[in-house]
Amino acid sequence: MVKNYHRIFLFILTILLLNVTTPCQSTLGSFKYDDFKKPEYCGSSCHTDFYQQWKQAMMSQAYTHEWDEIEYFKLAVPHAEKDEKVAEVKAGCNGCHSPIAYLAGDVPPPLPSMNSRANESVSCEVCHSITGYSGDTPYNFNYIMKPGKTKYSSRKGEITSPAHEIEVNPLMKTGDFCGICHNEKSPYDIWVKSTHLEWKEGPYFKEGVQCQDCHMPKAEFRTASMGAKYPDARLHLFHGAHDKGKLSGVIELRVYPDIEEAEPGETVKLTVVLFNQKTGHKFPSGSVEDRIVWLHVEAIDDNGKVYHIPVDKKGFAGEEYLIGSDILAYQDMGIALNDSEFKGVQRDGIPVGDRIFRMPYFDPQGRMTIQQWNTASLGVDYRIGPRETKTETFTFNIPYEVPEGKLKIKAVLNYQLLVKPVADFLKVPVSESEIVKINEQSTDIIILP
Ligand code: HEC
Ligand code: HEC
Ligand code: HEC
Ligand code: HEC
Repeated sequence: MVKNYHRIFLFILTILLLNVTTPCQSTLGSFKYDDFKKPEYCGSSCHTDFYQQWKQAMMSQAYTHEWDEIEYFKLAVPHAEKDEKVAEVKAGCNGCHSPIAYLAGDVPPPLPSMNSRANESVSCEVCHSITGYSGDTPYNFNYIMKPGKTKYSSRKGEITSPAHEIEVNPLMKTGDFCGICHNEKSPYDIWVKSTHLEWKEGPYFKEGVQCQDCHMPKAEFRTASMGAKYPDARLHLFHGAHDKGKLSGVIELRVYPDIEEAEPGETVKLTVVLFNQKTGHKFPSGSVEDRIVWLHVEAIDDNGKVYHIPVDKKGFAGEEYLIGSDILAYQDMGIALNDSEFKGVQRDGIPVGDRIFRMPYFDPQGRMTIQQWNTASLGVDYRIGPRETKTETFTFNIPYEVPEGKLKIKAVLNYQLLVKPVADFLKVPVSESEIVKINEQSTDIIILP
């Protein structure tokens, strides 16, 4: 008898184990567009505020935004068609930029001007259909999607919605949820986007500060027009590098000389301190291959004459990529553009000698690239980590022509979403390469007669 029970138990256990299929990643072509509601459905009468917030965020433009369109259609798709190694990105870019197009197996989706459903980009239904991710690390759109009548969210709510049911998904309260799309590995197995991993290594994660705390701030708000008011509703701002207010003052600056008075011909050493006060990850993060942050220091004499002061080299390996230069780079754009002789464009487009805070990406031939999918290795990571402070020094030999009086020393930290020579070459709208001033500070030295 005892033996038989044992057998029955084992039998039941086997059945149970067979039924618990490990959840797997939602893949290309596993759904139809019609499985997902349009954002207007969610936002036209119920979630009106969240809808307007989302409309202003890059989330609603991830497929349609001009630079995304140019990079995908002019570079990534033709490149993927020529090079077997990166063929997967033709579909894969949209695993994050237009998940419903990817899930519907629409490769490549119609151009944004065709107004297809791919334009919905990262819609309400995308995030609110995610139940989890496959594996241990969220990256490369390894989401598990369950579109349907049940929406996954962080709170059940006091009032039952007439439009859907809600199931609480605790994952949505954590930064791991964001990592599904904010970590990316290239076909060469290189981490080319690691905002979530940077956050996990940094101080904010340890203190329990989530991505949502900075990008979906809490406020007293009605989450649906007919719903209850909550003291801690999560606003859907998703404001980042495209929001000047978010960028403003990200890094605090101080500049000081080693001597307060000097004579022409003397040497002054200037120190600049840069403190990352605001980001929960490195700065810059995300599309690191595109971004450029640089420190420009100059002296202005009493007659208004300006002297540019180049940064002192620190002397570590790979530093040449971190000092403004006039050499050419990004030759691998020639692959997609059918120009095997392509010489590249200017690497930086900023004053020669300025300090750059970045991490260079290299193609399989070791040339610097802005094509993250064609990245086979990374250079030295000289970005500014969360709450990290970096210092730079500048040596200025005061020219004899500098007149007596005040010599103003000015330090400016500038930022561009996309290095300008690349933006100009690909005809990306100027808003993407406009210089954004992150911070500025100045001090004076007295020039003695
Ligand atoms: C389904 C994929 C996906 C998920 C999940 C996701 N994002 Fe994003 N996010 C994107 C894409 C794609 C963009 C880029 C839009 C563009 O510029 O093309 C983006 C852009 C952003 C931006 C704007 C960056 C800028 O340059 O201005 C912020 C901020 C952001 N996401 C934060 C978050 C946070 C916080 C979470 C988690 C609560 C999250 N994202 C979850 C795909 C996703
Ligand atoms: C990039 C992913 C993403 C997108 C896109 C998105 N949401 Fe959310 N939403 C979240 C996350 C994450 C939370 C929970 C945040 C938390 O509680 O920490 C959330 C919470 C909510 C909540 C509950 C808020 C609360 O405080 O109770 C509602 C309602 C909601 N979203 C509606 C929408 C609507 C409507 C849209 C489209 C206009 C939308 N969401 C688009 C990620 C997203
Ligand atoms: C302590 C606040 C804070 C936290 C936590 C935080 N961020 Fe940010 N984030 C910022 C600020 C400030 C910026 C604007 C400066 C910049 O572009 O890096 C920003 C920028 C971004 C950008 C644009 C980056 C770029 O350079 O293009 C993305 C994407 C982003 N955050 C996503 C996330 C995700 C995902 C998480 C969690 C894994 C997160 N953030 C956690 C403050 C935060
Ligand atoms: C794993 C998800 C993921 C994949 C795959 C992905 N992206 Fe992105 N992409 C993002 C996120 C998230 C951002 C926003 C990062 C930021 O703001 O710094 C982004 C930003 C961008 C931007 C910059 C937008 C801007 O205005 O600064 C472009 C262009 C872009 N992606 C194109 C592509 C192309 C082309 C591919 C395929 C080769 C691709 N992406 C693959 C998630 C992804």
